[in-house]
Amino acid sequence: MMKMRLIFALLILPFPSILKVWFYRIFFGYKIGKKVKIGLSAIIADKCSIGDRTRIGHFNLFYRNQDLRIGSDVILGFANKIFGGAVVDIGNKCHIFRFNEINSILDPLVLGDFDPRLILGEGTVITVNHKIDFTDRVTFGESVVFAGRNSNIWTHNRQKTAPVSIGRNCYVGSNVQFVAGSSIGEYCVLALGSVVTKKIDGEWKVIAGMPAKAHKDLDEDSKVLVTYPTRPDLQGITGALPTAG
Ligand SMILES: CC(C)(COP(=O)(O)OP(=O)(O)OC[C@H]1O[C@@H](n2cnc3c(N)ncnc32)[C@H](O)[C@@H]1OP(=O)(O)O)[C@@H](O)C(=O)NCCC(=O)NCCS
Repeated sequence: MMKMRLIFALLILPFPSILKVWFYRIFFGYKIGKKVKIGLSAIIADKCSIGDRTRIGHFNLFYRNQDLRIGSDVILGFANKIFGGAVVDIGNKCHIFRFNEINSILDPLVLGDFDPRLILGEGTVITVNHKIDFTDRVTFGESVVFAGRNSNIWTHNRQKTAPVSIGRNCYVGSNVQFVAGSSIGEYCVLALGSVVTKKIDGEWKVIAGMPAKAHKDLDEDSKVLVTYPTRPDLQGITGALPTAG
């Protein structure tokens, strides 16, 4: 079944977006909203829904997602790979830029319970060249900015897994690492190069270092790093205000 879908999705790749959307609706049974644009990208999922006005750029590949839910007004840039998982839930107005590898191990041989689910809250931004393993659950709250380059999230230590979560409105700096079972609270700044090794509680903190620790409360000037809307059309998200004036 998946192989047939893969072949079919590759065959229709060069078709104009309008035809591709039509094919996906008719032959794959995907629920695709109005004004959705799909570039030279393939979507191979058991089940898929895409909200209105979402734009998927070129060379993106969704492969073997069991239940793929892409909200409305989502922007997916160039050459992102999103593989595997029981649920991939990309909230409304998320923006995933380019070259991200977002992967749940296909047919994993892991011990105990695990929950291969990726949940991106509304308005979350993932920039460039990050690697996110969601063999166990990965949750980003609303308006998280996963910024810079080369950050990693790992939810497995060989065959043992544990979930990772990032609270709403966090600004995650470049080159950070999350180990399985780690998390940070809401409205926090995670400094460049941090390694998060465990659950770090608290809100409005500057978290930094290896292992990462909460260093101080965010001062008034720095609060804008976690309150400024992640997209110009997100002025209205509750809690994402005040904006930088
Ligand atoms: C965290 C950051 C935003 C500075 O925030 P700030 O509120 O001005 O915090 P401060 O500079 O006062 O630092 C607070 C503490 O964290 C420490 N710290 C800050 N950045 C750190 C880092 N990258 N690694 C380790 N410690 C760091 C400071 O030394 C200070 O420690 P102290 O309390 O023991 O003196 C900045 O250092 C940073 O990492 N920015 C991310 C840049 C980035 O990744 N950009 C990607 C493109 S958007």
